[in-house]
Amino acid sequence: MKRVLTYGTFDLLHYGHIRLLKRAKALGDYLIVALSTDAFNAGKGKTAYYNYDVRKEMLEAIRYVDLVIPEETWEQKINDIKQYHVDICVMGGDWAGSDRFEYLRDYCELVYLDRTEGVSTTKTKEDLHSEDLP
Ligand code: CTP
Repeated sequence: MKRVLTYGTFDLLHYGHIRLLKRAKALGDYLIVALSTDAFNAGKGKTAYYNYDVRKEMLEAIRYVDLVIPEETWEQKINDIKQYHVDICVMGGDWAGSDRFEYLRDYCELVYLDRTEGVSTTKTKEDLHSEDLP
């Protein structure tokens, strides 16, 4: 059983998220999503549109996701990897080479997956505020 772990906020769930989760799951057999809590996001100056419980509920409804756990600190990753016997940690390509993740190579395999072009939670919010909707 190969266990895969990924991190994120997954607010206003979109097809970029689904494609990331599908490819992450395909790297192993069991996919764990560490979902940023509202308090963790607040510490980064971010507020999700949907609260943690709702974002968790939606992720749990996705066939590729086996378990959702809270992401509460930047420092919890080594503990997560050990506690959940993680083989592969997956991040979106926007984090490639980042000090926030590279040190995890001492604890598990680290894979960066390319982001899907043209979609993000931020872009969706901006587009819905703009006057030139499609
Ligand atoms: N992701 C992706 N392709 C996209 C958007 C996100 O592969 N177009 C991936 C990210 O790289 C990350 C995961 O989905 O691994 C969760 O990303 P998140 O930051 O929650 O979503 P974004 O849409 O990037 O949100 P924001 O605009 O707030 O940064």
